[in-house]
Amino acid sequence: MACHLLLTDFTLPLKSPKLSHSRQQRKGRSNGSRKVSTTVAYYGLKTPPYNLDGLEPYMSKRALEVHWGVRHRGFVEDLNRQLRKSDILYGYTMDELVKTTFNNGNPLPEFNNVAEAWNHDFFWESMQPGGGDMPKLGLLGQIEKDFGSFTNFREKFVETALSLFGSGWVWLVLKRQDKRLAVVKTSNSINPIVWEGIPILNLDMWEHAYYLDYKNDKAKYVSMFMNHLVSWNAATDLLETCKLTATRICRAPYLGGFEPDICFIERYR
Ligand SMILES: [Fe+2]
Repeated sequence: MACHLLLTDFTLPLKSPKLSHSRQQRKGRSNGSRKVSTTVAYYGLKTPPYNLDGLEPYMSKRALEVHWGVRHRGFVEDLNRQLRKSDILYGYTMDELVKTTFNNGNPLPEFNNVAEAWNHDFFWESMQPGGGDMPKLGLLGQIEKDFGSFTNFREKFVETALSLFGSGWVWLVLKRQDKRLAVVKTSNSINPIVWEGIPILNLDMWEHAYYLDYKNDKAKYVSMFMNHLVSWNAATDLLETCKLTATRICRAPYLGGFEPDICFIERYR
């Protein structure tokens, strides 16, 4: 199993977390009179692929500062704190760590933090300045094939988001077995990769995602996402890559120069 380690300096300004690839040794538990050195893994906070004011006026800079800079950062920092105590959860890519800590439906304590870190990384990529409109090329054809029309898909996505009880996420996924697109909702931090779904798009339906800009008007938040924020470019690229690749791929091109640590699509079968 490939080991990818990220070190991040959490004291750096929000917009420029410094990530590097190296190993960190710490003194582990005492084994009798002998000190044991343990290698631990750390995961870094990735920046969204746009400036924090890049989604205004539909998602404010203040909302991004809190949502990404505080909430998302908190999930990553809490995960790293947990991993410092683990000699077992080492060397996983983040998608592997999500699946491993899901533990077949009996989540380990680390699951919520790693899944929420993953989900938020994906959420920032699911939006872009000047987003909205309609998908193009292959994704539009696949949506029309699997939902009947783009209008049907949109209605299904919105209905699913607004019918989610409590906190969670709504997703457009490619079902690995059926090779069909589907809209699914998940509670709390659950990510469809634990059920072998391949995420194409997601929308954060936790209250913290919309309250600053939309208070309790979830319908307006979802509408703004669909009309002005959703990145069909990213989703289209992702689906095409899913279909074309015969090997494990990573969706981290925007990271520019980073190694592909966050791999989450294994194979389109
Ligand atoms: Fe969130």
